[in-house]
Amino acid sequence: MVTWVLHYLLVAFLFAISYNIDAASAGITRHYQFDIQLKNITRLCKTKTIVTVNGKFPGPRVTAREGDNLQIKVVNHVSNNISIHWHGIRQLRSGWADGPSYVTQCPIRMGQSYVYNFTVTGQRGTLWWHAHIQWMRATVYGPLIILPKLHQPYPFPKPYKQVPILFGEWFNADPQAVVQQALQTGAGPNASDAHTFNGLPGPLYNCSTKDTYKLMVKPGKTYLLRLINAALNDELFFTIANHTLTVVEADACYVKPFQTNIVLLGPGQTTNVLLKTKPIYPNATFYMLARPYFTGQGTIDNTTVAGILQYQHHTKSSKNLSIIKPSLPPINSTSYAANFTKMFRSLASSTFPANVPKVVDKQYFFAIGLGTNPCPKNQTCQGPTNTTKFAASINNVSFILPNKTSLLQSYFVGKSKNVFMTDFPTAPIIPFNYTGTPPNNTMVSRGTKVVVLKYNTTVELVLQGTSILGIEAHPIHLHGFNFYVVGQGFGNFNPARDPKHYNLVDPVERNTINIPSGGWVAIRFLADNPGVWLMHCHIEIHLSWGLTMAWVVLDGDLPNQKLLPPPSDFPKC
Ligand code: C2O
Repeated sequence: MVTWVLHYLLVAFLFAISYNIDAASAGITRHYQFDIQLKNITRLCKTKTIVTVNGKFPGPRVTAREGDNLQIKVVNHVSNNISIHWHGIRQLRSGWADGPSYVTQCPIRMGQSYVYNFTVTGQRGTLWWHAHIQWMRATVYGPLIILPKLHQPYPFPKPYKQVPILFGEWFNADPQAVVQQALQTGAGPNASDAHTFNGLPGPLYNCSTKDTYKLMVKPGKTYLLRLINAALNDELFFTIANHTLTVVEADACYVKPFQTNIVLLGPGQTTNVLLKTKPIYPNATFYMLARPYFTGQGTIDNTTVAGILQYQHHTKSSKNLSIIKPSLPPINSTSYAANFTKMFRSLASSTFPANVPKVVDKQYFFAIGLGTNPCPKNQTCQGPTNTTKFAASINNVSFILPNKTSLLQSYFVGKSKNVFMTDFPTAPIIPFNYTGTPPNNTMVSRGTKVVVLKYNTTVELVLQGTSILGIEAHPIHLHGFNFYVVGQGFGNFNPARDPKHYNLVDPVERNTINIPSGGWVAIRFLADNPGVWLMHCHIEIHLSWGLTMAWVVLDGDLPNQKLLPPPSDFPKC
C-alpha cells in the first residue's frame, strides 16, 4: 500500500516536472479569428467604407509567447480578395502560412476561409500583420506581439506598461483606386491625406482634434512603446517633446540600448523604445509627432500627425496646460537618417548571440531603383515623360507576379516551368555608375525570375541604390529570414575597400533595412528555411512598380530540413 502510494506520488511528481518543462519550452496554441468585413469610418470630416479585420481600425492585437503555435482563421466576407502576411515571422518550414498573394498562396476569395497555422520559434518582440495584396494593407493591419517565454526577462528594465503605436497613412480616396489610377496613367500615386497614430490623425488636420491619439502616463515610470511603421509609402521621423527615448529592439531583435530624441522608421520596420516619464507631474502636456523623411522627386504627403503625451493627475485638470511642441529634422535629412541607422548594434550577448555568417557561400549584388516602362500605343502617359510609365526594378528586372497560381505551389508540385524562371541576375548585366549621372536608357525588363539557393547556403547581398529618376531610400524587406546588416555607405559600393570595414561582431539583425538614399547596404543571412521567400521594397508603390524578387530555398537532406506539405484548407487558385 505504502509503495503503491509512493509510486503514485513519484509518477505524479515526474509528470508535473515534464509538464512544466513542456509548458515553458514548447508553448501553447492560441486561436484567433479574423473576419474580413467592411466598416464605415469618418476621418478628416469624410465618411467612407473601409475593409477591416473584425470591424476594427487598426486591426486587433495578436499576442503570443515565443514557442507558441498560432492558428488564425481568416474568413473573407468582402468582395476584395485578401491574404494576410505575418511580417517578420520566420515561418520555419511553414511557408504556406507566410501570406503574400501569388507568392506563397492564392488569395482568399469572398466566402472562403483559411487558417494560418505557424509556430513562433526563436523570436520575441514587436512584429505586425498586414494584408499582402495590392494596397489592401492601407486599412488591414495590426500589431503582432511576441512576449518572451514565461519567466524569461527582457534584457532591459521591466516596463510598467507596454503600448503599441502604429503609424499609418490615411487616404480620403479608396487606396485601391489610387494605385489602379497610378498604374494606368504611369504617374506617381496621389499622396495620402494624413498620417496617423493608431488610426488617428490628430489636431494638426481639419476637424480631427477629436481624433487624437492620447498616451496617458504616470510620473516616474518606464513605458515600452512598440513603434510600428504601417504607412504605405512614407518613411517617418517620430519624436516626443522633452522626452528622451531609449531604443532597445528593432524588428523583434534586441539591440544594444541607445538614447535618441528622434527615431526613423521605414515602412515595415518596428522599433521598441523605452520612455521614462518625468519623476514629478509636469505642468504641461507634450506633443508626439511623426512626419516623412523623403529625398525623391515625386510629391508625397508631407503632413504631420500629432498625438498627445499626458500625465495623469487625480486633482488637476489638463484643460489649461500648455502644450510643448518638439521639432523634427528637415524632410530630406539624409545625414540624420544615416547617423541614426549607424547606432543599431546587436546585443551579441551569450543569451542573444549575433550568429552572423563568417564564411560566405554565395555573393549577390543587386542594383535597386526606379526606371520606366514604355507607354502603350494610342495612350498618353504621365510618367517621367508622356511616352513612359514609372517602373522599378532589381538588376533591371521588374517583377511580374503570377496570377493563376503562387510561386510556392508551382515549385512544390514541380510545375514551375511556365510560372517562373531561375535565372535572376546575380549582378547587373550592364554595370553603370549607379549613383552618378543616370544612363540615358532607363527602360526596365519585365519578368518572373528567382534565385535558387541550396539549403544552408550563407548569402552575402549588397543592395545598391541607383540615381535613376532620383535618389531615394528603399526599405528592403526579406520574408522568411532575419539578416545581419554588416556594412553600409554612400555612393557606389567598392568591393576592394568596403568589405574591410564590415562589422562581423555585433551587426544589427533585422527583417527590413533601408538602402541609404544614394548609397548601399550589405547584408548576410543563412538560407536555413526551405520555401519561396519574397524580398521587396516595403514602399508600396515601389512594390506595385515591380521592386521585388524571390528566393527559392531548396529542402535539406534531413527530414526536419524540408518544407511541410500544405494544409488541407489551403486556398484554391
Ligand atoms: Cu510587410 Cu512582403 O511585407
